[in-house]
Amino acid sequence: MEEKVKILVVDDEKYICSLIEDMLEGEKYSVKSETNPKKAVKLIESNPPDLIITDLVMHPLSGVDVLKTAKKTRPEGVVILMTGQPTIENAVSVLKSGAYDYLIKPFSMDNLKATVERGLEKFRLYQENIHLKEAVSLFKISEAMGSTVDLGELLSLILQTAVKELDADMASILLWDPKTKKLRPEASLGMDSVFFKNGFLVGDDPLSNWVLKTAKPKIFNPEQVDVLIGNKKIKSMISHPLLARGRIIGVLNLLRKNKPFPFSPGDLHSLSILASKAATAIENSKLYQDIREGYLDTLSALANAVEARDVYTRGHTERVWYLAESLAKQLSWGEEKIIEVRMGSILHDIGKIGVPDQILNKPAPLTSKEFDIMKMHTVQGAKILEGISFLKPALPYILYHHERYDGKGYPKGLGGEDIPMEGRLMAVIDSFDAITSERPYRKRRGLKIAVDEIKRCSGTQFDPFVAEAFLNAWESHVFDKRRLVIREKIKKSKVLTRKKQKSVSF
Ligand SMILES: [Fe+2]
Repeated sequence: MEEKVKILVVDDEKYICSLIEDMLEGEKYSVKSETNPKKAVKLIESNPPDLIITDLVMHPLSGVDVLKTAKKTRPEGVVILMTGQPTIENAVSVLKSGAYDYLIKPFSMDNLKATVERGLEKFRLYQENIHLKEAVSLFKISEAMGSTVDLGELLSLILQTAVKELDADMASILLWDPKTKKLRPEASLGMDSVFFKNGFLVGDDPLSNWVLKTAKPKIFNPEQVDVLIGNKKIKSMISHPLLARGRIIGVLNLLRKNKPFPFSPGDLHSLSILASKAATAIENSKLYQDIREGYLDTLSALANAVEARDVYTRGHTERVWYLAESLAKQLSWGEEKIIEVRMGSILHDIGKIGVPDQILNKPAPLTSKEFDIMKMHTVQGAKILEGISFLKPALPYILYHHERYDGKGYPKGLGGEDIPMEGRLMAVIDSFDAITSERPYRKRRGLKIAVDEIKRCSGTQFDPFVAEAFLNAWESHVFDKRRLVIREKIKKSKVLTRKKQKSVSF
């Protein structure tokens, strides 16, 4: 059954109330009346009606007071004022205060019904607009959920959608940090820096914490915002908890600074839908990140197991990872690509798992047959991982890191830009670290020699673009050499161990 439209009539003259009740009562409307404007205000605050018809001149509160309470409680609700003393000033004043229309006493039944119908049509359009906004928000958030699992991108999309759909000026998302047991600001849009400086919306402000404690959304009016954080510039604010699987994972804040109207319960309803979808998307993104990190940890352990077979190359994977990631950032590769660089770096030599110990650890240059077997680590590595869709982005690093720009590399002998960029980047980094690493058949060489080698082989072994980027990064001290120094100290101790073991192992 369709819900009836709730109408409240406020007039200190009882017979007017009864008259209007009789005129409107029927199938469509549920009409209540109140002769005491103070009681009427309380009634509006506790259970806001859809439409209010109120007398203008009453005591102790006027019709404008009733109107103000109604607009504050439910801005989209319709208020019609009645007056027996029509003046232009009165009309302008009530319309300016947000009244939909006014009726001049005495009025006919037709006039009353027509005014009420028009007002309710506006109300219905407003509601439809809210539903449309909800649908659009849902669509956008769902789209965002499908298009990215990157947390930064997702948060940015949620903020943009929330600000646009709810006509806000500023927004922020704080996420719960289980380590510090505090909210941590994770993303913001349009937020004045002063809010962060004053400790507002940075995780330990009273407003966000109130939402955190109660796990309920709340609209804060300017007075409440001012009392709580001492800021008179905010016209209205909504704080909404982000709940996923019954747990609070953060808070979404929206603020209006320049808009004259406060957030309404309708806005809160729209935001609740958006916040629910957003929380699920954030949770999924975090789960995906956890799984991915767990995967990478497992793969690092696997790569370490491969490295452990050759004490001379220990730490190679970690250094290649560090250098490749730093260079990729220098080349302005995106966040998602950087994660792929990490995977590729960890896994680039994973195929060595299939290379026999006597070849991998041979304390002399390899014969051509042995070298052919060694070359297969690129293809073998790609074969091991090609069935795992999550690791597909790592394959070009594994397969092409020994290709040369002049076409004399392996396994395919590709040249120039036929070699995927991932392979060209890894070739520079892998070679740099190989030069500075101890080998069973030769001593390690210094960093400067390695840098000179990259310069010398630019355009032959290496893509000149990548080589130049590497050399520029080196000159600009992008790489933290302390990480290489620490590695060298470790290496010395490993080499000593190896020497001690030499008589036993070889
Ligand atoms: Fe390799």
